[in-house]
Amino acid sequence: MELKDQIDLNNLPKHVAIIMDGNGRWAKQQGKARVFGHKNGVQSVREVTEAGAELGIKYMTLYAFSTENWNRPKFEVAALMTLLVSTIRKEIATLNKNQIRLQTIGNVNMLPKAAQRELSEAIERTKNNSRMTLILALSYSSKWEILEAVKDIAKQAVDGKIAVEDIDEDSIKHALSTKDFPDPELMIRTSGESRISNFLLWQLAYAELFFTPVFWPDFRKKHFYEAILNFQNRERRFGMTSEQITDTGN
Ligand code: IPE
Ligand code: IPE
Ligand code: MG
Repeated sequence: MELKDQIDLNNLPKHVAIIMDGNGRWAKQQGKARVFGHKNGVQSVREVTEAGAELGIKYMTLYAFSTENWNRPKFEVAALMTLLVSTIRKEIATLNKNQIRLQTIGNVNMLPKAAQRELSEAIERTKNNSRMTLILALSYSSKWEILEAVKDIAKQAVDGKIAVEDIDEDSIKHALSTKDFPDPELMIRTSGESRISNFLLWQLAYAELFFTPVFWPDFRKKHFYEAILNFQNRERRFGMTSEQITDTGN
């Protein structure tokens, strides 16, 4: 049976987050420049986006550029920004065809103006699509996001809009840039690295983590299905015992 057919469509994660890693090593392996890897990573983005939408995943967050990535060599950052602009422009039609809505999280004001313009246009032109929401994390870091949330809540307290005793998990959730999306149940990282790299620290609190050695430019639909199947074979206990989860009697 094909991998895809083994997936239980009634037990899909609503939200899958992916750290797309390994572009540079993939390129280097072939004696090419790192940017060659980034360019080839675009096809993988198309594949997982399509695979996710076809299966019925409602939200997908892709870590495309971290706050820390600004520290890379200038020409690599510039190449990534150019690639972002040209890809978004090219993909709007496909997003609409596949009924995918585009959103972003992160400090997008840091991006070059051209990228900001392309993004706002793509967000606007795809806003009525309802099959899947594709969230690009751009100039994103979780510590930045949490810091912003803390400032926001502190300001509400100082302004008398919220009492300190009333601050709860929901107040934090609503102050994060992910406020409109459910927390990811599955986080995939490619390229063999087993770390979170400042990605969705709050939101991944109870996510299942899936690490694969495949470099991002090699990541195809079948790898995505593999991750979903792996997720479906796990027991999510949320602090309880296995018996509590499986016993239907009480
Ligand atoms: C992921 O691939 C893409 C970005 C972080 C923008 P890398 O560029 O990190 O590739 P490696 O990890 O150096 O191989
Ligand atoms: C994480 O990958 C960020 C993105 C995939 C955009 P990095 O390659 O930047 O992470 P580290 O430096 O290996 O932790
Ligand atoms: Mg990397």
